[in-house]
Amino acid sequence: IERTFSIIKPDATKRNLTGKINAKFEEAGLRIVAQKRIQMTLEQAGQFYAVHKERPFYGELCEFMVSEPVVVQVLEGEGAILKNREVMGATNPADAEDGTIRKEFALSVGENSVHGSDAPETAAEEIAFFFSGLEIVG
Ligand code: GTP
Ligand code: MG
Repeated sequence: IERTFSIIKPDATKRNLTGKINAKFEEAGLRIVAQKRIQMTLEQAGQFYAVHKERPFYGELCEFMVSEPVVVQVLEGEGAILKNREVMGATNPADAEDGTIRKEFALSVGENSVHGSDAPETAAEEIAFFFSGLEIVG
């Protein structure tokens, strides 16, 4: 059974959408096996998004991620990584399919409500970045 890492981003926590987004995950068969609400630091955001360091939106992205609390999560299920990305929808909500989280809730390509790991290696890294093994209860 696969695990993936998820973040409910500041635009969504600010609008009180945590429960509605979690309902989408659960309806899709993803189980929330770890979850915590945190205030990310700029240092954590910078490290988490280090792969995007050279992109023009890096600074804006990091500032956004610390602008409000976020909810970090571990989701578990068959093919969880791909399933989660399907439920999230395209990065830009303008391109997202009907019924996806980003179609329903995202405000823009930057303020797009959720993050989800894109591959098994990044999922493992991202889970370990925010959670200890004891905090994940499958
Ligand atoms: P994640 O699941 O968050 O990694 O999204 P993704 O894989 O669909 O997108 P990508 O990895 O390309 O970009 C990571 C994040 O950077 C996105 O989710 C956005 O929040 C942000 N981002 C991407 N493109 C832009 C942009 O043009 N402007 C701004 N402000 N943010 C962007
Ligand atoms: Mg990505």
